[in-house]
Amino acid sequence: MTLADSTDDNILNRLAERTAKVVVIGQGYVGLPVAMRAVEVGFPVVGYDVSETRIAALRAGSSYVGDISDEELRAALAAGYLPSTQANDLADFDVAVISVPTPLRNGMPDLTYIEAAAAELGPRMRHGSCVILESTTYPGTTSELVAPLLEAGSGLSAGEYHLGYSPERIDPGNVTYTLVNTPKVTSGVDEASLAVVDAFFGALVDQTVPVGSTAEAELVKLLENTFRHVNIALVNELAMYAHELGVDIWRTIDAASSKPFGYMRFTPGPGVGGHCLPIDPSYLAWRVKQHLGRTFRFVELANDINEHMPDYVHERVTSLLNDRERSLKGSEVLLLGLAYKRGTSDWRESPSVNVAERLAASGAVVEFCDPNIPAVNSDDLDFPLVEFSPERLRSADAVVLLVDHEEFDPAVVAEHARVVLDTRNAMRGHDFTGEVL
Ligand SMILES: NC(=O)c1ccc[n+]([C@@H]2O[C@H](COP(=O)([O-])OP(=O)(O)OC[C@H]3O[C@@H](n4cnc5c(N)ncnc54)[C@H](O)[C@@H]3O)[C@@H](O)[C@H]2O)c1
Repeated sequence: MTLADSTDDNILNRLAERTAKVVVIGQGYVGLPVAMRAVEVGFPVVGYDVSETRIAALRAGSSYVGDISDEELRAALAAGYLPSTQANDLADFDVAVISVPTPLRNGMPDLTYIEAAAAELGPRMRHGSCVILESTTYPGTTSELVAPLLEAGSGLSAGEYHLGYSPERIDPGNVTYTLVNTPKVTSGVDEASLAVVDAFFGALVDQTVPVGSTAEAELVKLLENTFRHVNIALVNELAMYAHELGVDIWRTIDAASSKPFGYMRFTPGPGVGGHCLPIDPSYLAWRVKQHLGRTFRFVELANDINEHMPDYVHERVTSLLNDRERSLKGSEVLLLGLAYKRGTSDWRESPSVNVAERLAASGAVVEFCDPNIPAVNSDDLDFPLVEFSPERLRSADAVVLLVDHEEFDPAVVAEHARVVLDTRNAMRGHDFTGEVL
């Protein structure tokens, strides 16, 4: 029996017995739910993060991730979950999941967080350890960037440790499809790695979908998000033309959605946001450009249209006020929804901010209202965050519904707002003054 065979058996046994030491690098929207689930199924788990603030909050039993309640977190802590900023707590791990940010910097992939995580893990690996990258990235990252860093840090060679990629499909705020019942794509740099990666996630989720290579798994994630990005751009562009043509885009979409095959429903809005859609397709476009010298035209076009939507909202608000003989300059505009989508507290890359900036640049006095976002999470926001109340609705010259959070009761908005631009079709069926996007 070779060393690799014996270590494979060892780690697979420890996974089956739930004694494998699991470390999750990055305790954010992706990493924290993975850590919680790993604790829940019985693994000893270290949740490692460089943010002292986040780790202090976790230790105090206070969750900053909407999908994880304080009760769940406290139960995990009681079961031995260890939130830590100490790299030494990673020593001798069996499975490490990397879920650190992968932003764009000046339009280019910024992989420095992945590099830092790999540099932290390398020296703490042992024969048979398994590293799984979960951060979204372009095809080739696991084998071309992560593997050499782990090998340099550990002194191990390919075959002596396990390495794979498994994209995260978490959908913040979605209570129907959770981490557990959403199929999880798994991959490895070799067969033994795939077996370990698949066994680990097989313990966490109902169904895994093993694929042939880490590059395939990396591309799966980018395909999914590029598909969504492009289709949202399609309905956004159509919404602008339909308005000019005097056709109701929302009823058109509802009717088209009755087709049981060959059509998938996407709806327009004030732009795309969050940590995925505005970023991931550009990772793919960058890789295509860098390796093939070609332009990924669908991505460029979708970026162009989706990035234009806040300007379009600005234009529609201006025209609504104009119809009432008011200028945008000096008007009070209340924006309902700062989060990038319904039901989440995440406002990273939110198009709501772009809308606010454009309105403010034209001299409007802008306020936000978002019951999902606690004041503590809005420190970097340049606009006041106010309560959702009839008084606020009444005092604004115009109200723009940007996110259809369930807390924004359309009946209340209809009753109290002077004029509304509804970018989500949430006011349909209510007698209100204003327009739908
Ligand atoms: N949020 C989503 O809905 C979602 C869904 C699918 C995939 N993803 C992808 O998952 C990855 C993580 O996203 P997220 O939303 O969880 O980000 P996040 O910003 O919420 O969390 C990342 C965490 O990593 C920590 N971190 C940064 N560098 C570190 C290091 N060297 N060592 C330890 N911790 C470090 C940060 O302090 C932060 O707490 C990204 O690649 C993202 O594109 C996100």
